[in-house]
Amino acid sequence: MACPNTVPYRGKVNQGLREQLLGQKSIILWFTGLSGSGKSTIAHAAEEKLHSMGRLTYVFDGDNVRHGLCSDLSFSPEGRAENLRRIAEMVKLFLDAGIICMSAFISPLSADRQKVKGIINCDRFFEVYVKCPLEVCEERDVKGLYKMARQGKIKNYTGISAPYEEPSDPDLVLETANYSLDQCVDQVIDFVLNAIKK
Ligand code: ADX
Repeated sequence: MACPNTVPYRGKVNQGLREQLLGQKSIILWFTGLSGSGKSTIAHAAEEKLHSMGRLTYVFDGDNVRHGLCSDLSFSPEGRAENLRRIAEMVKLFLDAGIICMSAFISPLSADRQKVKGIINCDRFFEVYVKCPLEVCEERDVKGLYKMARQGKIKNYTGISAPYEEPSDPDLVLETANYSLDQCVDQVIDFVLNAIKK
């Protein structure tokens, strides 16, 4: 809901002018997938490549954001929904700034992802499903959190005691159990270069 008695100010320097200055089109690749599926690793590796190609990028990372902007939120359904709402609003500003954005949040519920899409301008929003079987994520257990979730030490853990709803029509699928990091990053780079041409 909009704050009462406020009137948005529209400056002359707008998204188009900023994009012209940067020589790029802003887009958002919204990575979704289980914890340990590889969202952050791929997004950051793709960012390195795009940066070296002279593109201005930014990665929004679940674990990082939850240390700052969203440190007051839990992993309850309401906490996750608010986490994603705040990120969506933030991404919207970064798109206005002309930046190529990637976000790495589990974003487990279709309804919440739909809301994110609604907040963000749709033709710049691309859903990337980082697909990896739960058994593989659990085997990797990079942060040791799956083990703790199995022991009941973490509640509402996605894939163990909280749901993950697969995207029904993602724009890009990265199968991290079947392809190497480099191969997945190449897929992302091809996708981005194609998307910013349009
Ligand atoms: S989301 O569901 O709201 O999109 P987000 O991507 O911000 O989640 O945070 C996920 C990260 O938080 C995981 O990678 C993991 O490191 C950590 N985490 C801590 N508790 C949980 C939990 N109950 N479920 C999932 N991830 C958790």
